[in-house]
Amino acid sequence: MDALLSKAVATPRALSREELVRLLEWPDVQELFAAAYEVKRREVGCVVALRGLVECGNVCAKDCLYCGIRKGNQNVRRYRMEADEIVRRAEVARDAGYGNVVLQSGEIESEENTAFIESVLVGIHERCGENFGVTLSLGEQTDGTYRRWREAGAHRYLLRIETSNPQLYARLHPDGHSWSRRRECLHSLRRNGYQVGSGVMCGLPWQTVQDLAADIEFFAAEDLDMIGMGPYIPHRDTPLGADAEWTRQVAAERLELGLRMIAVTRLHLHDVNIAASTALQALAPDGRERGLLAGANVIMPNVTDVKYRSGYRLYEGKPVDDENSFGSRDALERSISAIGEGIVWNGRGDSPHWRGR
Ligand code: 5AD
Repeated sequence: MDALLSKAVATPRALSREELVRLLEWPDVQELFAAAYEVKRREVGCVVALRGLVECGNVCAKDCLYCGIRKGNQNVRRYRMEADEIVRRAEVARDAGYGNVVLQSGEIESEENTAFIESVLVGIHERCGENFGVTLSLGEQTDGTYRRWREAGAHRYLLRIETSNPQLYARLHPDGHSWSRRRECLHSLRRNGYQVGSGVMCGLPWQTVQDLAADIEFFAAEDLDMIGMGPYIPHRDTPLGADAEWTRQVAAERLELGLRMIAVTRLHLHDVNIAASTALQALAPDGRERGLLAGANVIMPNVTDVKYRSGYRLYEGKPVDDENSFGSRDALERSISAIGEGIVWNGRGDSPHWRGR
């Protein structure tokens, strides 16, 4: 094996910015994925952790220029699930053997919403047990709100920084959206005792390979427990996606870039949880399995009631049916064992990095 790859496999957090760039551009992509998979297998085993994703609502105060559920998109029918509906989906996830859920929605900051989520958290723990894992992905909130949700039983939080480059962030968001506040939220989550996850989109307009290398350095500097990344996929009802080129070839390139980011993140950080995102699956039917073979160890099957799925279309091509191959427990088991991996059923899914801290 090449010296740089061997160093990355042997030693965590040892790569310079230039070395990260070299790996991101590694000519033999299969060799890169194999090296990352070797690290994944050694650090977490040949296993995949599950998260049951509940898309609780698509009402959003933000107007991100790339996102299909941005406030300004008039072509979306807005919905908010009732508290008992959300608790019911958590029970469905538990009965399916997931062991934990992720509650995700558009960003809403209000006392009403804070209290609503508190009641949902209490309900989930009453019905699914104290050990059932709950991750929140509900955007930027005050320190006090994060504290209340933590006290009500949430123990992990996902908040993507979207890009570690504040100038690029400013081009992708309108006025009033603040990169610094987003990073401050990550710190607030850490202070409040959450396992903290973040991540970025890759293949964004104006984004360079230097930016992507800096993103991976950001993950290291923030000492993240979980990383969720995915290729940017244009959405026609957004300012950024309105006139995007959309061909099979472009999809293949976006997918490969997403897989390269997973591989190099694994090679640099070694023991964190890395999700094979749904956006990978939107680009290829086997996108998530390919993500696992490039170094990811988490998948997040959607457990939202199918009737809401079309309302949560963040990007073009997001699956709205019952998850093609991931519809049932057997199908999930089959597609994962076909690539030589096993599923951890009924796990809370805490990250090995968190346990080691
Ligand atoms: N393409 C890919 N990912 C997107 N997201 C939002 N819009 C898009 C898009 N067009 C991602 C963001 C957000 C997550 C919930 O979905 O990274 O944090």
